[in-house]
Amino acid sequence: MVFIEQSATLVVSPLATHPSNFGEAPIPQPVTAPLTENAIFLVLTINPGREGSDAVRSFCGDLPKLIRAVGIRHPEGTLSCIMGVGSEAWDRAFGSPRPAELHPFKEIRADGRNAVSTPGDILLHIRAQRMDLCFEMAMQAMQRLGKAVSAVDEVQGFRYFDDRNLLGFVDGTENPSGELLARSVLVGEEDPIFAGGSYVITQKYVHDIAGWNALSTEVQERIIGRTKLSDIELDDSARPSYAHNSLNTIVEDGREVKILRDNMPFGHASTGEFGTYFIGYSRSPRNIEKMLQNMFLGNPPGNYDRILDFSRAITGTLFFVPSASFLERAGGGK
Ligand code: HEM
Repeated sequence: MVFIEQSATLVVSPLATHPSNFGEAPIPQPVTAPLTENAIFLVLTINPGREGSDAVRSFCGDLPKLIRAVGIRHPEGTLSCIMGVGSEAWDRAFGSPRPAELHPFKEIRADGRNAVSTPGDILLHIRAQRMDLCFEMAMQAMQRLGKAVSAVDEVQGFRYFDDRNLLGFVDGTENPSGELLARSVLVGEEDPIFAGGSYVITQKYVHDIAGWNALSTEVQERIIGRTKLSDIELDDSARPSYAHNSLNTIVEDGREVKILRDNMPFGHASTGEFGTYFIGYSRSPRNIEKMLQNMFLGNPPGNYDRILDFSRAITGTLFFVPSASFLERAGGGK
């Protein structure tokens, strides 16, 4: 424990004992790991009472061990599990200080196009080349968390042919890579206490596939802003201002702002559920929020994203993904 001296009185600094206080550069969770064939997205709420938040803190320490124990069964399956924490849950589990830009998901309502905000204290984004690894990891995590949490949503995502979503278009082409990736998604000197962390927004979209498939390929391509078969960006002259990629191109100080999308298709053929699980990581939630405003409200207002005529967001959550070093300390490690 570290003490700071104040007018001859010894006061315990809350920061000194907080898990955000590391001696060296924090190690991020594997946010920048490559896309995999399979994923499970688990959204949980922490049950009331101190036991809930105590159990979540101790889970932070268990998480790396669980990933190692499950992942070693198929090392080539590249299992990873990223843990995100919602705004209210942060205060309950870790108190102060808190990540500078962490807040609840901001709902948007515009002419029936709604970006809804739904409950979520903990996100587990589990990725692997094999679903058995994802499933085992989810099972072990749920067993360890036990009665401390309630599940709100669980989605099993899969890779669909050449990284296409169920609308038939390749999804993820314009994701950043290399240096630019880390710079786009990891918090840096703007919030030094939480450097190495990331913000993540998730939204579960369900599609009106019959309606979408009734459009001609040319109309679909103008909505997405890329060709369907070859995945080439449409020329500026052919690309409408409402195209998905036009509305989601954000420029700040002369530089394009990038986010990382690890979207996955999901669905149930028998019940007619066809969806895209949107999951976007960013150094600041503002970037994704700006994109959501452009899509739902339009840019300029009214010039909205036509994907939304065929897709409905049925969840919406925002989490902070602390560094792996933070989780280790929160769980009682060094
Ligand atoms: C129904 C949900 C969605 C579907 C089906 C979808 C699909 C796509 C497709 C097919 C592309 C083009 C290929 C690519 O670059 O990845 C794309 C690009 C993109 N999407 Fe989405 N998307 C969805 C929701 C969102 C949301 C909610 C956001 C952000 C809030 C977003 C942000 C982006 C960005 C930043 C790009 C790259 C734009 C560029 O630089 O060209 N998408 N999306």
